[in-house]
Amino acid sequence: MTPNREAWGSRFGFILAAAGSAVGLGNIWKFPYIAGENGGAAFIFVYLVCIAIIGFPVLISEILIGRTTQRNPVGAFAALTHSKFWISVGFLGVVAGFMILSFYSVIGGWTIGYVVETLRGSLSNFQSPDEAGVLFGKLSGSPTWSLSYHAIFFALTMFIVIRGVEGGIERSSKIMMPVLVSILVILMIRGVTLDGASKGLAFLWVPDWSKITGQAILIALGHAFFTLSLGMGAMLTYGSYMGKRDNVVSASAQIVFLDTLIALMAGVAIFTAVFASGLDPAAGPGLIFQTLPAVFASMTGGVYFSFLFFLLLAIAALTSGISLLEVVVAYFVDERGWDRKGAVLIFGGTIFLIGVPSALSFNLMADVKIFDKTFFDIVDFLASNILLPFGGLMIAIFVGWIWSTTAVRAAVKEGAEQLFDNYPWFERVWFIFLKFVAPILITLVLLNSLGFM
Ligand code: PHE
Repeated sequence: MTPNREAWGSRFGFILAAAGSAVGLGNIWKFPYIAGENGGAAFIFVYLVCIAIIGFPVLISEILIGRTTQRNPVGAFAALTHSKFWISVGFLGVVAGFMILSFYSVIGGWTIGYVVETLRGSLSNFQSPDEAGVLFGKLSGSPTWSLSYHAIFFALTMFIVIRGVEGGIERSSKIMMPVLVSILVILMIRGVTLDGASKGLAFLWVPDWSKITGQAILIALGHAFFTLSLGMGAMLTYGSYMGKRDNVVSASAQIVFLDTLIALMAGVAIFTAVFASGLDPAAGPGLIFQTLPAVFASMTGGVYFSFLFFLLLAIAALTSGISLLEVVVAYFVDERGWDRKGAVLIFGGTIFLIGVPSALSFNLMADVKIFDKTFFDIVDFLASNILLPFGGLMIAIFVGWIWSTTAVRAAVKEGAEQLFDNYPWFERVWFIFLKFVAPILITLVLLNSLGFM
């Protein structure tokens, strides 16, 4: 083990940082719109089941690999197996970090841009989502606007990661996460007190089972990975900065709880407002940037809520962006002996450049298409729909089948003895989900993504 490897200052700090990684654009931008497109309550139910039976067991496994080896994804598999295959699985995680961060920061940049546009007053005069759509088209259609905010998002991410695990990631999460939750509470209260909010609540709580298709189930399962930051080593890397006796199971439960709670709260805040204004809940990816600004424009004091909402999104994106960069940095620090600052500057810069064509996919390069997809869509698809499920599958198989059962048992109980004494069945159930349920379901998601289903 590397002497003086960095570590979290406290257990609470780790939980906030890991929840910060999990809570991101996935919760506040993507979850509401896919729930909206797939019929609301019934979809949410399926999503919760996926989180419980796949997300939670795989999250425990990923953090466990990190905590046991105290390494980045590549070093972790090398420490446990020496097999080239598994080491390349870890390496794919680092590659996924490059890819996801490169396009994630484009949307992250838009959210910062929208905070600024709100302050400049450009979002206050919409009569309809169409007008908000025109502005959105104009902004995302401007290469200068997109690239500038992409750069600003990167600068902030690098600034935090350079300061290290405890002094940067943990410290900033301890400030940003409470702010995020407070903003969400304010927006939720505003939402449920609007006239007509009950229709939004009904959309979220009253299931229409006819909306549940095989496709919807696969979308829910794929999203469970994305939203919990699983399958590319972010949670593994964060777990590697834990103490050997920190309880992995209860930490994972807390992370899952926070991530789910925040997605649901975002759903309440957004759909109460959308329904109260009589707008379309199934507006797709534009729900946040086109429908909501129109909702805010029609509210008294809407500009304050708009400011808070986009600030919320920017914070959520930033705490996830830092975890993506940390995977890459941890690899170069642990395995290649780089110093943190050099790794952040060189690879942060590189990932920024890889993101440039993604930022241009909405303007200069909008017509450059491969298989009918823009550069942005391709990177997003490869990373979110192929690499993450593949990584999650590999982690389930590794912990379920490859790593010695005796070692896994001893490791998962370390620091969680009492829990396993009180609930002896937990271990068996966890193994069943890891060995059978997760591999089968994830394989279905992958086959679907690859067009075989
Ligand atoms: N979980 C983050 C979100 O919901 C995205 C993410 C994926 C972050 C993978 C890190 C790793 O937005």
